[in-house]
Amino acid sequence: MERTLIVIKPDAVKRGLVGTILSRFELKGFKIIELKMITPSRELAERFYIIHKGKPFFNDLLDFITSGPVVAAILEGRNAIETVRLMIGSTDSSKAQAGSIRGDFGLGLTDNIIHASDSLESFNRESAVIF
Ligand code: CMP
Repeated sequence: MERTLIVIKPDAVKRGLVGTILSRFELKGFKIIELKMITPSRELAERFYIIHKGKPFFNDLLDFITSGPVVAAILEGRNAIETVRLMIGSTDSSKAQAGSIRGDFGLGLTDNIIHASDSLESFNRESAVIF
């Protein structure tokens, strides 16, 4: 069975969406293998988002992701990486498809509710940073 990582971001945690979001994955059939709430330090956030270092939005992204608690989970299920990416929707929540998590719960680009690994390589790297 394939595994992937999700991180429910500070905007969603502040709005009380943790249970709603986790339940979508459970209802879909994914199993929660690990679950953790942390407030990321700047150093951890920088390691997590290292591939975006140097991009114009990098500093705002670090400010945002360190602004409060996040909930990270490792989910297991068939085709987990691709299916979970489909379920979260495209990066810009204002354009994300209705029915996706970003499409249903947000409007932001930086503050876009949730992160999910986009490949096996990202999953291995990102889950090692967080767990
Ligand atoms: P995420 O899927 O966690 O991956 C990188 C994050 O950077 C993205 O979600 C957004 O939170 C943030 N971000 C802000 N601006 C942009 C942008 N223009 N393009 C991509 N990601 C952005």
